[in-house]
Amino acid sequence: MLYRLLRPFLFMIDPEQAHKLSLRGLDLLENLGLLKWLMPKPVRAPVTVMGIEFPNAVGLAAGMDKNGDHIMALSRFGFGHIEIGTVTPRPQPGNPKPRMFRLPAAEGIINRMGFNNDGVDKLVQNVRNSGYRGVLGINIGKNFDTPIEQAVNDYLICLDKVYPLASYVAVNISSPNTKNLRQLQESEELEKLLSALKSRQTELAREHDRYVPLALKIAPDLDPVQIRDIAERVIRHHFDAVIATNTTISRAGVEHLPHGGEMGGLSGAPVCARATSVIRELAGILHGSGIPVIGVGGILDGEGAVEKTLAGAQLVQVYSGLVYRGPDLVRDCAAALQQQRANHI
Ligand SMILES: Cc1cc2nc3c(=O)[nH]c(=O)nc-3n(C[C@H](O)[C@H](O)[C@H](O)COP(=O)(O)O)c2cc1C
Repeated sequence: MLYRLLRPFLFMIDPEQAHKLSLRGLDLLENLGLLKWLMPKPVRAPVTVMGIEFPNAVGLAAGMDKNGDHIMALSRFGFGHIEIGTVTPRPQPGNPKPRMFRLPAAEGIINRMGFNNDGVDKLVQNVRNSGYRGVLGINIGKNFDTPIEQAVNDYLICLDKVYPLASYVAVNISSPNTKNLRQLQESEELEKLLSALKSRQTELAREHDRYVPLALKIAPDLDPVQIRDIAERVIRHHFDAVIATNTTISRAGVEHLPHGGEMGGLSGAPVCARATSVIRELAGILHGSGIPVIGVGGILDGEGAVEKTLAGAQLVQVYSGLVYRGPDLVRDCAAALQQQRANHI
C-alpha cells in the first residue's frame, strides 16, 4: 500500500540509485525497530525442500543483496528464505554505470551489473554480524578476470568459505553479464564443475558435521536438448536442486521499448513464460529423482507464483516483481500458494 505512494518517486530516479536508497531506507527503519510494524505479518505455511524446512514457499532471488548487507531488513518482508550474492572470491566493481534499466511498459528490468560485490570474505563477515536465523541461500560465482578454464577454482574458494553459514549454496552458471560464464552449462564444463563441487561438498559435510545442499542456477535461454543434458547430469551427480531461471538475453516483445535494446539480462514479466517453460521441461525430467526445482522469473502476483508450482516448482523466488509491486508481493504469493495447497489436500 505504502509502496504504491512511494513508487512514482523511486521511478523518477536512476534505477540503481533507487535500489540503494530503498535498501538504505529499509535499514534505517529496521535499526529504529519500526520495520516489523510496517510490514504485513509473514505467512506461515511450512514446506520441506532439500531437507530444509522453509516457513513458506516464497524466497528472495539472488542479486538484490549481493553482499548480505541488508538481510535483517529484507527478512521483514516475510520471505520463507533469502538468497544473497552472487559473491565472487575477490571484490570487483562490476560493469560501468548505467547498468540497470527499467522497462515499465513491459514490467521488465534489464541489468548488466556484472557481479559487482565486496568479495566473499566481506559477505561472510556480514552474515556473521546479521543475527538472521532464517533460511539463507548463498549464491556463488567467479571473478570476471578468472579464465573460464579456472572457473571451478573460484566456485570452490567460495563454497569453502560460505559453507558453514549457508542453509544451501546456489551455484550461478547462468548470468549473461560475465563473459563465457554460461559456457559452464555445456556438457564437458558442467561435468567438471558438478563433480568438483559435489566431492568438495562431501568433504565439507564431514568436516563441519552438517550437510549443506547445492542448487544449480540455470538460464532461460536453453533448448530442450540442453535442459535434458543438464538435468541428467544433476541427477547423476546428486545435486540437491535446480533454480530456474536467471535473466534472458532474448529481447522478444521489448525491442521497441525505451531501453529495450540495452545489453544485459532481461527479467520481470517478459521472462515469465520462458522461465515457466524451462521449469516444466526440467521438472518433467527430474520427476521421480526427488530433486526439486526452485522457480523464478517474472512472478508479479500470487497467480504467477501458483503458475510456477503448477509447472513443477516446489519453491519460488522473486526480484523484479518487488520493484513493480512492492513488498506486499511476498505475502500475496505465499498466501496464494498456501491456498493452492489447501485446495489440493
Ligand atoms: C538487477 C538484477 C541483478 C541480479 N543479480 C543476480 C545475481 O547476482 N545472481 C543471480 O544468480 N541472479 C541475479 N539476478 C537474477 C534474479 O535472481 C532472477 O533470477 C531473475 O531476475 C528472474 O526473476 P525476476 O523476473 O523475478 O526478477 C539479478 C536480477 C536483477 C534484476
